[in-house]
Amino acid sequence: MGLEGKVALITGGASGIGGSTARLFVQHGAKVVIADVQDDHGSSISEQLGGHETISYVHCDVTCDSDVRNAVDLAVSEYGKLDIMFNNAGVGGLETSILDSSKEKFKNVMGINLYGGFLGAKHAARVMIPAKKGCILFTARVLSVLGGFSEHAYVASKHAVVGLAKSLCVEMAQYGIRVNCISPYAVATPLLTNGTGIEKEELESLVSEAGNLKGKILEVEDVAAAALYLAGDESKYLSGVNLMVDGGYSITNPSLPMAAKSFMS
Ligand SMILES: NC(=O)c1ccc[n+]([C@@H]2O[C@H](COP(=O)([O-])OP(=O)(O)OC[C@H]3O[C@@H](n4cnc5c(N)ncnc54)[C@H](O)[C@@H]3O)[C@@H](O)[C@H]2O)c1
Repeated sequence: MGLEGKVALITGGASGIGGSTARLFVQHGAKVVIADVQDDHGSSISEQLGGHETISYVHCDVTCDSDVRNAVDLAVSEYGKLDIMFNNAGVGGLETSILDSSKEKFKNVMGINLYGGFLGAKHAARVMIPAKKGCILFTARVLSVLGGFSEHAYVASKHAVVGLAKSLCVEMAQYGIRVNCISPYAVATPLLTNGTGIEKEELESLVSEAGNLKGKILEVEDVAAAALYLAGDESKYLSGVNLMVDGGYSITNPSLPMAAKSFMS
């Protein structure tokens, strides 16, 4: 029970990676607050995972200061404190040409992925600093260290999230608060299936085929396991890390071997 006695707030916890992390955190003894804008999904996950004693759902648009303040305050009033703030809510798109972008779309992606995480960190810090402990996590992406195959705003937002986490890691260290990022490769969640219009199983085999680590599929549970590790005391001296959950995807570039293979055949 690695998170026994700890309280976690997970934004974007009504679906995908956040939902799976909520489940795993509860299994490991944490009290959890899910903060999301999908009220039906959020409430139903909370009920499935044991209800009010263990887990609560709160409507929270991460771009809205008062919503995020309220979510943090709810964690404290319901469960007594906040140990883990998982800034995970995110949106993204697949447009790759800057000619298709617009100020509104750019602001929307940056607002949720970056400013939403900033607000989460700010309100978490408000209650963690006096407690002189805590853990702030962000979901970035493999696109926090690579470019391409997603819209510019998305790539920029994930690079910026890592910059924000690094900056926070320095300020928060004096209070014993750790700040880390998790950067998964690609997982067939609604973010990707809705974005591409490709079914889950088909998307998983496509992503697995293109991945560096063969014969394996990256699933939400794998990302949740990374969050569990970074949230728990086992990682007590890790801060400022961008943990790549990518099977080595970000450290290789298969284009030359592929071109050579096709040239030789
Ligand atoms: N799926 C992937 O391939 C992948 C890979 C790496 C990183 N990520 C990141 O993981 C995070 C979770 O995404 P996911 O893949 O689980 O997708 P998902 O669509 O299943 O979950 C995202 C959640 O964020 C919530 N959300 C969106 N806007 C919000 C807002 N304004 N306020 C509060 N909640 C909001 C959605 O309602 C949803 O429940 C995102 O930050 C995403 O960028 C996803």
